[in-house]
Amino acid sequence: MFTVNKALLWAKNYLKECGLENTALEAEVLLAFCTKLDRVALYRQNERFLSPGEEENFRQMIKRRGQREPVAYLTGHKEFMSLDFLVNPAVLIPRPETELLVEKALEILNAKAFGVGQAVGLSEKILIVDVGTGSCAIAVSIAKYIKYPYEVYIYATEISPAALDVARLNAKRHGVAERIIFWQGDLLEPLKNQGCEGQISLITANLPYIPTIEIACLEPDVRLYEPHLALNGGKDGLDFYRRLISQGREFLRPGGYLLMEIDPAAINQISGLLNAAGWKFNVFLDLAGKERLIVAGQEV
Ligand SMILES: C[S@@+](CC[C@H](N)C(=O)[O-])C[C@H]1O[C@@H](n2cnc3c(N)ncnc32)[C@H](O)[C@@H]1O
Repeated sequence: MFTVNKALLWAKNYLKECGLENTALEAEVLLAFCTKLDRVALYRQNERFLSPGEEENFRQMIKRRGQREPVAYLTGHKEFMSLDFLVNPAVLIPRPETELLVEKALEILNAKAFGVGQAVGLSEKILIVDVGTGSCAIAVSIAKYIKYPYEVYIYATEISPAALDVARLNAKRHGVAERIIFWQGDLLEPLKNQGCEGQISLITANLPYIPTIEIACLEPDVRLYEPHLALNGGKDGLDFYRRLISQGREFLRPGGYLLMEIDPAAINQISGLLNAAGWKFNVFLDLAGKERLIVAGQEV
């Protein structure tokens, strides 16, 4: 029978043999999940014996991780913006670099920097669209952390009905379901004929951007387990940018912004698309110093 210590040692060695790197952390996270203890409690109770059920469950999870199934899909949870999100293989696992997009959106919203520099009246309704919402990590985080008490409504669009099911659960879980309106459909299409033209203050988008041919070269954790619908950006990875850059302006109100996460490698091509379509924009770097976010508008 395993004690906590022995279980961790076995798991670390097993994962190392499978070629994984963050073996200590992953073993601890999975053991904490299987024993329903937090990681501090695991240290304190390192001589505690695992029950037969816990041990069996832990062994299975470590074996699945050894086959590269992501930890977040094994536990069903992923932290983003210090919030706990439910995830399953229907949704992309939210990435830490996407927090930059949320932080910038909040900075703009909290500064009330709309209407080309005019302050927004507190009673005014603010409409936001999160395109390709996936787990709803972006929309929920904005709804949770928005500072001013004016009315903010977020339209969250998503092509995948299975992803929308997860998005709805997360909105409910974080108490913001009443402020997020979900629409299944293609990019901004669901907003058409809804009176949204010229009404949207902010469009946020972290859309698929991997060129189709490069998907085969991705890490197995991503390639084998994450939904290709969330990864495949078409032949050159830019399909969704082309369409959003052309559709977006119709929906933004004067002084509104389009925030797009990008692949740093595509910065020149995306800048070219924005310039050709007459947008003004700024580029923001992530913590690794890479071009990760574009904020575009008529005036930025
Ligand atoms: C890269 S994932 C990002 C998910 C989420 N926004 C995030 O940041 O974690 C892209 C999402 O766009 C969705 N998607 C793909 N094609 C779409 C389309 N044509 N219209 C709307 N959503 C789409 C995918 O299903 C996926 O959930």
